[in-house]
Amino acid sequence: IADIQDDIDHELVSKEQIEAKIQEVAARVSVDYKDKDPLVIAVLKGAVNTVVAFTQALSIPVQMDFMSLSSYGSGTQSSGVITVRQDLSTDVRGRHILIAEDIVDSGRTLAWLVEELKRRGAASVEIFALLEKPARREVDVDVKYKGFEIPDEFVVGYGLDYDERYRNLDSIAVLKPSVYQGDEA
Ligand code: PRP
Ligand code: MN
Ligand code: MG
Repeated sequence: IADIQDDIDHELVSKEQIEAKIQEVAARVSVDYKDKDPLVIAVLKGAVNTVVAFTQALSIPVQMDFMSLSSYGSGTQSSGVITVRQDLSTDVRGRHILIAEDIVDSGRTLAWLVEELKRRGAASVEIFALLEKPARREVDVDVKYKGFEIPDEFVVGYGLDYDERYRNLDSIAVLKPSVYQGDEA
């Protein structure tokens, strides 16, 4: 098994840039949600790194819950079908919800989740997405708290995977083409 850095072609967003951006967003959210007793919902697995850094940067106490959703199979293309791998354990009725997500690509995952949370009776639903790929958007999603806009390249790291690997990279990066070889979706 090779060193994780050996599979990286180039870095798109550094660990330092990510941390600075998360601090900035968390400062805004701490003000906006001061009297709202928010419930932060992380969209697993991709949002795992983002939600930890983000909630630790907040200056207000929050509740956290987790929903594991999948729109991608093992390839690099979204299937468009959202599968609930694991549901929340919190009743969201009347709650002010802040979704923490790693990336908005087609927008289908978040569009589905926002609708679902409203259907369950949430009082409000807003989104913090660390990354957005505007070139790939297929459905409209209103992201109130934005991180970085990135080009249409398949990225990994900071929670984002390729075939379930590379989530543990501490920055956002593009893999070497050789990593996908013979494995293109
Ligand atoms: C990825 C990513 C987002 C979603 C974005 O999750 O983490 O949740 O796809 O794509 P979309 O905007 O086109 O819906 P994935 O389905 O790969 O599951 P994972 O988080 O467990 O990796
Ligand atoms: Mn995801
Ligand atoms: Mg994935």
